[in-house]
Amino acid sequence: MVTPAGHTLTIDQDRLWSDLTGLAAITEPDRPWTRRSFSPRFLEGRAFLTRRFQEAGLAVRLDAAGNLIGRLAGQDPQAPVIMIGSHSDTVPSGGRFDGVAGVLAGLEIIRAAADAGIRFNHTIEIVDFLAEEPSDYGLSCVGSRGMAGVLSEDLLGLGGPGGETLAAAIDRIGGDVSRLHEAKRDDVAAFLELHIEQGPVLECTGTDVGIVTAIAGVTRLEIVFKGATGHAGTVPMPGRRDASVAAAKAILAVRDTAATMAAGDNGYFAGTTGVVDILPGGANVIPGESRIIADLRCERRDTVTAFLATIKPQLERIADSEGCELATRLLSDNPPADCDTDLRRLLEAMSEAMGISSLSLTSGAGHDAAFVSRIAPAAMVFVPCRGGLSHCPEEWSEPGQIATGTDLLFKVVQNFDARNSRGILRDKQIDGVRPDDATAPRHTG
Ligand code: GLV
Ligand code: MN
Ligand code: MN
Repeated sequence: MVTPAGHTLTIDQDRLWSDLTGLAAITEPDRPWTRRSFSPRFLEGRAFLTRRFQEAGLAVRLDAAGNLIGRLAGQDPQAPVIMIGSHSDTVPSGGRFDGVAGVLAGLEIIRAAADAGIRFNHTIEIVDFLAEEPSDYGLSCVGSRGMAGVLSEDLLGLGGPGGETLAAAIDRIGGDVSRLHEAKRDDVAAFLELHIEQGPVLECTGTDVGIVTAIAGVTRLEIVFKGATGHAGTVPMPGRRDASVAAAKAILAVRDTAATMAAGDNGYFAGTTGVVDILPGGANVIPGESRIIADLRCERRDTVTAFLATIKPQLERIADSEGCELATRLLSDNPPADCDTDLRRLLEAMSEAMGISSLSLTSGAGHDAAFVSRIAPAAMVFVPCRGGLSHCPEEWSEPGQIATGTDLLFKVVQNFDARNSRGILRDKQIDGVRPDDATAPRHTG
């Protein structure tokens, strides 16, 4: 099949699309497209994936961190694993492609290889990471943290609906936190994640794929103001201690400081206040307490440190001016993650060999690849999405756009698989990348 961009596919676009729509149909019916981690719908989605993995000849297991893994044993028992994956959970009323595209791209690569009679030297694993989106337990990237060995006791103790801890929830869906250390991996030679861009750059520039340079760090700062409640009609305006006004000024301070950081020579930076709780929440009551959460995304770690150093005195001044007390707390603080340079070069070389256009860009969104990059070389491919929309029901990518990105991954997997431990192609040249190419990734095994 030829894509609208004129590229001839070696994977089966219709089969991939049929699975994308099949998995998307497993949604809360009154709230498309919702498949929250740990929910019955999520488990239905995983049953769908398990069936598809098994039909493709994969051995399926759940690791101790609750990651669903399909494994195709390679011909060389000494060779480390090539891992491909993303996540099948969604945000509430989210989209059909965020995460799912990366899992199903991996599955399609396995099937396309079987159709072409290709037998991989390396073992290939396709992973649906548990709970990439912020879960009901307040944590995101649960499964990839587990695989990286950073799912700490503190995090496992986080409470969720009905007082269930995250640890209990992982066990409930088939993980086993008593064996969590077994989920940590040291046998992965390369991790590849395909994802929709979730932003407008590829569409605006008419580019086929994005090659991610780095995944932004995510820091979440909780800001609480305590003032004094009172009757909205009787307490005179002077001297009020209205916590909602302090929150409003803090939201502006977050926005303005983030905009200054983003405009400077600091790499990618974004700041958003997406949670605003005003208490007690009566139309005729002066709010006595407010709680907001600032979500900060940075390409460079030092910019978050600078942001926090700048915002804290501003928040103190705001609290003083409104007669409120201030308390701040870091809810999460994950550094940015670089994608592997050799894998990026290979992605670029293969895109060029395939005649598809590519662009290097930073991911402002968090991804499982950020945690996997702590234990293995990791890289990401972005495909365009309509209007740059994501985390909403309108999220959309064309079948040919996802298929093109999947085809690129297929070529990269074949090329990587054909190399021996010195980074030299074992026997044959694949699509234009020479055996002695200096860009060849090297790995042991
Ligand atoms: C994940 O979707 C994020 O919050 O970036
Ligand atoms: Mn998401
Ligand atoms: Mn995602």
